[in-house]
Amino acid sequence: MAVIADRCPEIEVTVVDLNQARIDAWNDADLSRLPVYEPGLDAVVGRARGRNLQFSTAVEESIAAADMVFISVNTPTKTKGLGAGQASDLRWVEACARTVAEAATGHTIVVEKSTLPVRTAAAIQTILEAAQRDDRGRSFTVLSNPEFLAEGTAIGDLEAPDRVLIGGDDAGSIDALAQIYGNWVPAERILRTNLWSSELSKLTANAFLAQRISSINSIAAFCEATGADVREVARAIGTDSRIGPKFLQAGPGFGGSCFQKDILNLVYLCRHFGLPEVADYWESVVALNTWQQHRISRLVVEKLFGTVTGKRLAVLGFAFKADTNDTREAPAIRICRDLLEEGAQLAIHDPKVSSTQIARDLQIEASPHTDALSGTGNWAMADTIEQAVVGADAVLILTEWTHYRSLNWQALGDLMRRPAWVFDARAVADPQQVKASGLNLWRVGDGEG
Ligand code: UDX
Repeated sequence: MAVIADRCPEIEVTVVDLNQARIDAWNDADLSRLPVYEPGLDAVVGRARGRNLQFSTAVEESIAAADMVFISVNTPTKTKGLGAGQASDLRWVEACARTVAEAATGHTIVVEKSTLPVRTAAAIQTILEAAQRDDRGRSFTVLSNPEFLAEGTAIGDLEAPDRVLIGGDDAGSIDALAQIYGNWVPAERILRTNLWSSELSKLTANAFLAQRISSINSIAAFCEATGADVREVARAIGTDSRIGPKFLQAGPGFGGSCFQKDILNLVYLCRHFGLPEVADYWESVVALNTWQQHRISRLVVEKLFGTVTGKRLAVLGFAFKADTNDTREAPAIRICRDLLEEGAQLAIHDPKVSSTQIARDLQIEASPHTDALSGTGNWAMADTIEQAVVGADAVLILTEWTHYRSLNWQALGDLMRRPAWVFDARAVADPQQVKASGLNLWRVGDGEG
């Protein structure tokens, strides 16, 4: 919404939320304190806020004044009830549709921006149609306009998207939305489809991207077992123009708020529509991802003489990828939990993730390292990399933050307890330097390691 406001100064954009604290944070005069860390976002908000971009808790009034309403709430995986663990929880989407149905005036175009299971638009449409039948002379159309931005590169992705997808039945409404994007996106990149194709395209795009990661991670394990190097394999296959070079980086498994949720959603829908083989096929992408994470924690334990109880381990990186403070489904969560379960003492470093967030993710409060052999795992935040590494038996690199690429392994190695290991799940450390400093090295997908 900030990018729309930035690119279209004549359009008034109001972002509303029920959460006063969240809105206050978006209105913070200090742009470095916005609630989401995303490179470039502060500048965009700085330019548009107070001009034609407002953040407000006046939900009903803003809907009443709007020609177009974007529903952009979260749709997490259900944790209980029908479809628990797979289906999307649509309670917030439905609540929004009902609020829009109640508060809108005149003709309103309702745009689904959240990633939604196929055919959710129908539910929104039904709620809005019921509202249309009262005597207030209102009307609604529903569009699907999924978002393909990736975190960390969101502003660039929005400013120069590969494509914008608009699904709907009403040509006039589609034109109205296409016109907004037309302010900065070339017309040939604005694709029009029916509602269902648009919703399904989002799930499919994420499923395909995640599938590439699981595919390369499966080959990484095979490389480790056989002496090949997954980066060489990725380069070799990526130069085939039919395969392409992107999304072939082996790592600790994919994280983020979308991939797992969307695939599980697809799996649920395939089962629902009587396609168990298709469901199993996609489910295996998630299963491989989970396995990859457990595989890493298992091999840490194995390399450290079969036990990490009471051992100090430095964890570099907790975010699910670099350049974000987002930890949703971060591989670090599962790997750290496994190691805590084994009684390890973790010193966690991340340039952007707060210790409150890590405590929430690990479901354990940080505590000072005491009583090494008690068998109880614990963790503490380290403010610097040196602080994390001092006295550690191993360093695990779980996020590819830029400055983890140029660490001085000689100096870090001197702070560690020997024999010491570096487990580089992102293959960012310089292997020669690590080895030259007398440290043992495991790199994902490196059979020579
Ligand atoms: C993803 C999609 O890319 C985006 O189009 C969609 O709108 C939302 O979901 P995001 O989750 O923000 O975006 O990040 P992405 O860059 O796709 O990375 C997802 C995960 O895959 C991260 O954990 C990342 O580290 C991992 N990944 C990515 C790899 O392990 N290897 C790769 O080659 C690429």
